[in-house]
Amino acid sequence: MELKLVSTTLTVFLLIISVTVTTADYVRPQPRETLQFPWKSKPHSYPQQVHISLAGEKHMRVSWITDDNSSPSVVEYGTFPGRYSSMAEGESTSYNYLFYTSGKIHHTVIGPLEHDTVYFYKCGQQGPEFQLKTPPAQFPVTFAVAGDLGQTGWTKSTLEHIDLCKYDVHLLPGDLSYADYMQHRWDTFGELVQPLASARPWMVTQGNHEKEYIPLLQGGFASYNARWKMPSEESGSTSNLYYSFEVAGVHIIMLGSYADYDKHSDQYNWLKADLLKVDRKKTPWLLVLLHVPWYNSNEAHQNEGDGMMQAMEPLLYAASVDLVFSGHVHAYERSNRVNNRRPDSCGPVHITIGDGGNKEGLARKYKNPKPDWSVFREASFGHGELKIVNATHAFWSWHRNDDDEPVRSDQVWITSLVNSGCLAEKSHEFRKILMAP
Ligand SMILES: *[C@@H]1O[C@H](CO)[C@@H](O)[C@H](O)[C@H]1NC(C)=O
Repeated sequence: MELKLVSTTLTVFLLIISVTVTTADYVRPQPRETLQFPWKSKPHSYPQQVHISLAGEKHMRVSWITDDNSSPSVVEYGTFPGRYSSMAEGESTSYNYLFYTSGKIHHTVIGPLEHDTVYFYKCGQQGPEFQLKTPPAQFPVTFAVAGDLGQTGWTKSTLEHIDLCKYDVHLLPGDLSYADYMQHRWDTFGELVQPLASARPWMVTQGNHEKEYIPLLQGGFASYNARWKMPSEESGSTSNLYYSFEVAGVHIIMLGSYADYDKHSDQYNWLKADLLKVDRKKTPWLLVLLHVPWYNSNEAHQNEGDGMMQAMEPLLYAASVDLVFSGHVHAYERSNRVNNRRPDSCGPVHITIGDGGNKEGLARKYKNPKPDWSVFREASFGHGELKIVNATHAFWSWHRNDDDEPVRSDQVWITSLVNSGCLAEKSHEFRKILMAP
């Protein structure tokens, strides 16, 4: 009884926090209802919330949760169903959040794996067999991109549309579950995305909804870091909030909008070191993801990315980054190649794709006139597909969830900077920034 009262008071307190955090002065129309997940009885050792992520050259991390604390962190796998030629043992963790205690969270790295190959696997020697496909070694390679997912009727429709696209890797620029302090909503999100995230690697970076920080009571990113372990160690980073990975001729850098980013920060120094390692002969394409957009002509979240942009844009420009994806704004916007707020043929294309389907609805108001760097903007739910055809050409398309049909609403061929002369032109500047103390 007493506990119930405490927990009710706490819920009210948390509601006040989340309302003040999420309220903004623009009108967000017709979000779809939050999905309900009926409780299903499962054996305690049954693997739940299975998802996979790339973990260094030819390796994949399999993550799942069991209610049973003694369940082994073992993955059996092979290229034939039901016949597992290999086995790997990993690690596990768990966390407490106020009155919530997570299940046993397993992370097991498997490999070396062949490229472009279907593997069958089983987690913790229990439950059903899962299937995954590894990305190809070479072009073409296709990425599905959608941020600010949440778990509403719109999320469901976005996931259904992504499932129809033949993609190799999912890229998520922050805001996953919208659990917003209610930890069991992380569990339902894990179940919701399992059909997709257990089959193709999901590479994520953090958004503001992952923070779940409560002064004096709870540190930030506890749930996110425990559940969505990304290859930071594999990429020389000391934080799960920023890391990089390579797939089929593409080097992808996941930055943390909510980690320190000034010139003396760990993140900035790691970024310099990571960029130094990029070999454009091996990975002609260079992509960056982060949560808070730097180029945004929506009224929502105006100028929020300015600090990070000021610190890091010169470095990304000097490194000739091809594309920057962000989320946060619940709408879609694509820029020209841009730098320092002006169209620049040696700058990256910026794409805001925070329209995955979260409960807060769309950000419909745009600033007018449209800035000259902005090419296409629309407030609809949807997802993007980036098909990198070869070292120089990629086809980008944005698919609106219109009437539950995936409508391709924006599409463009993007050419990489690799043969543009930009790299040579900027090499001196790049060295200078890299060598700066
Ligand atoms: C790369 O793909 C584009 C688009 O399909 C094509 O026009 C171009 O010739 C290709 N380049 C090479 C070197 O194959």
